Amino acid sequence: MIRIALIPGDGIGPEVVREGRRVLEAAVSAGLAEVRVEEFPHGADHFLATGETLSEPVFERLRDEFDAILLGAVGDPRVPDNRHARDILLGLRFRLDLYLNFRPARLRLAELSPLKGAAAGTPDIHVFRENTEGFYTGSGGSLRPGTPQEVATSESFATRFGVERIVRAAFEHAREHDRPGVTLADKANAVPHVYGLWRRVFAEVGKEYPDVKSEAAYVDALAMQLVRDPGRFSVIVTENLLGDILSDLLAELAGGVGLAPSANLNPGRHALYEPVHGSAPDIAGTGTANPIATILCVGMLFRDAGLAEAADRIEAAVDESLGQGIRTPDVRGESTTEEVGRWIADRVAAA
Ligand code: NAD
Ligand code: IPM
Ligand code: MN
Repeated sequence: MIRIALIPGDGIGPEVVREGRRVLEAAVSAGLAEVRVEEFPHGADHFLATGETLSEPVFERLRDEFDAILLGAVGDPRVPDNRHARDILLGLRFRLDLYLNFRPARLRLAELSPLKGAAAGTPDIHVFRENTEGFYTGSGGSLRPGTPQEVATSESFATRFGVERIVRAAFEHAREHDRPGVTLADKANAVPHVYGLWRRVFAEVGKEYPDVKSEAAYVDALAMQLVRDPGRFSVIVTENLLGDILSDLLAELAGGVGLAPSANLNPGRHALYEPVHGSAPDIAGTGTANPIATILCVGMLFRDAGLAEAADRIEAAVDESLGQGIRTPDVRGESTTEEVGRWIADRVAAA
């Protein structure tokens, strides 16, 4: 029995999580999984109505009573300082110490690539994004805000412990899944302290994995190489902010953010799955949001829970839907969010 907390959140979050849940329930009805699901209302509406972002008792329940969390997206123009989203999403990442943000990007269908002559399967890159340090800790401050003399600082942090555990996770993953190499993305030429630590730790840990090629790259040149020759890369490990940026770039190279799932993990302890994309206020309520990123999150959740057959069936049904043109407009189709979700759920239930 997997205990799953759903946090649909804002914008298209509830629309895509509804379809994720449909597919989850299809796997259950096919006898492939047993789950207990509870939905949480937290997000902008709840915050604006109650003042609560994520209260302590709710946090404790999410921490103690669930095996996994599935989150749609948080972010709403009515909360311009993004306070609720920071408390909910970043709060869970930090407080559950979900240090490993795993973001795979594989082109499932050649015609969805923005690149000329792309082949399915390229890119096939696994990003290991450090998820608890860097610029994201909230450290910093401002002086004399709103005046011409205003000063603002935001500090980026790297700890040896934090860097080492994510770098090691990337090398272990490469070894375990026969991936040829690990690339470090940094900016050590311009920002020596934080990225100097990353470089040294990457070199040290890399020595323990002589069977895995390792290469350190400056993120600007890497961004260029990723567009020019994405097949050259297999596993990328990087710090929080650079990983955020690279994962959207890679999602687009792999057919679009509507197809990109991610997992925030403290392996063996806590897991939060969410699409790479946000709440997309520009299309919320139009029925055009692509639910596949969220549906693939359900697949990842099942795979991590040891339910490989459920995960395989979901992935196969997703590939079939794309191949048969059951697609939302972002991937050059005319189907609605619900039509795609129902189609995939039917396949999973029937398979
Ligand atoms: P976004 O990812 O929400 O949207 C970027 C573009 O991609 C938009 O044009 C949108 O319509 C499109 N898009 C996104 N998801 C799609 C889908 N499933 N199907 C079809 N098209 C899709 O990024 P943004 O506009 O920068 O952010 C909007 C809000 O979401 C902000 O408040 C931001 O902070 C938040 N956000 C939240 C998360 C999260 O909760 N994990 C992630 C990213 C952004
Ligand atoms: C993501 C998002 C978040 C991040 C935002 C909403 C804080 O962009 O999950 O990629 O920057 O990590
Ligand atoms: Mn992002």
